[in-house]
Amino acid sequence: MFNVNLRSKVALVTGAGRGIGKAIAQGLADSGVSVAVNDIDPQTAALTAGTLAGNAGHYVADVRDSAAVQRMIDQIISDYGRLDIVVNNAGVEPRASILDMTDEEWHNAISTNLDAAFYTTRAAGHYMKAAGQGVIINIASIAGHNIPIALRSGYVASKAGLIGFTRESAREFAAYGIRINAICPGVIETEMTAHLRQNEAQMKKWLEDIPQGRLGIPEDIVGLVLFLASDASRYLIGQAINIDGGKVML
Ligand SMILES: NC(=O)c1ccc[n+]([C@@H]2O[C@H](COP(=O)([O-])OP(=O)(O)OC[C@H]3O[C@@H](n4cnc5c(N)ncnc54)[C@H](O)[C@@H]3O)[C@@H](O)[C@H]2O)c1
Repeated sequence: MFNVNLRSKVALVTGAGRGIGKAIAQGLADSGVSVAVNDIDPQTAALTAGTLAGNAGHYVADVRDSAAVQRMIDQIISDYGRLDIVVNNAGVEPRASILDMTDEEWHNAISTNLDAAFYTTRAAGHYMKAAGQGVIINIASIAGHNIPIALRSGYVASKAGLIGFTRESAREFAAYGIRINAICPGVIETEMTAHLRQNEAQMKKWLEDIPQGRLGIPEDIVGLVLFLASDASRYLIGQAINIDGGKVML
C-alpha cells in the first residue's frame, strides 16, 4: 500500500551535535537511513556521527551562512549520490527584552531559525526536484503558534516565520513530489531549556498546563520525524504539528 521503509535514504539533520537533532539523527540511522550530521560545533558533530549506525558522516557548517549551506549540500550529494530528507533542526533561543536586545541577538535568532531553512530548502530543492521526490521537516516550536513565552521576541518571530515558510514552500514544492511539514515541540529537556528547568516556580506552572504531566525528552520527537519522512504521511503537507504532551490543543 505504501512504503514505510527508509532504507537506502539519505538525510541531512542540522544542529545534530546534541539535543533534539542528535535524537533525530539516531532515530533515522536506526531506521537504515544514511545520516549527514551537521553542526556548527565540530566536536559534537563528529561525536554524534561516530555513534550512529550505518553510513553516517559529519558536516561542519554554520547554517546562517548561505554559501556554506550550499557547499555542504553539494558535498553530501557528492558523497552519497542523493539527498532524500532534510531536517532543519539547528536553532537558538536568545532571551532578552526588546528594549535591551541588540541587533546581533535579533539577527542571530532570525538567521539561525528561519534564514537557514530557506538556504537548505533552496539548495536541496534543486536536487529533490530533479529526483522527483524529497521530504523537508522544519523543527519549529509551539512558540510559533502564538503561545506566549516571555522575553523571546526574536525566537517567537523566527518560529512563526518558519511555520509560514513551511506552508509556502510546501505549496510551491508539492508539484515536484517534495513534501514539507513542520514539527512544533513543547518544552523538551535539552541544554536549550536548562535555564527554564532551574526555575522551580515557572516549571510548576508550566507542568500544570501539560495534560501528560511531564516535559518531553528528545526521543519523544523521533517517531513523528520517521512518520513525516516516510510514505506513511504521503498526503500530508504544509502542516505544523504540535508535539507537547497536550499543552496546546488547536
Ligand atoms: N528544547 C525545546 O524545548 C524546544 C522546543 C521547541 C522547539 N525546539 C527547537 O528544536 C531545535 C533543537 O533544539 P534543542 O533543544 O535540541 O537545542 P540545543 O541548544 O540543545 O541544540 C541545538 C544545536 O544546534 C546547533 N547550532 C546552533 N546554531 C547553529 C548554526 N548556526 N549552525 C549549525 N548548528 C547550529 C548547536 O551547536 C546545537 O548542537 C531548535 O530549532 C529549537 O528551537 C526546542
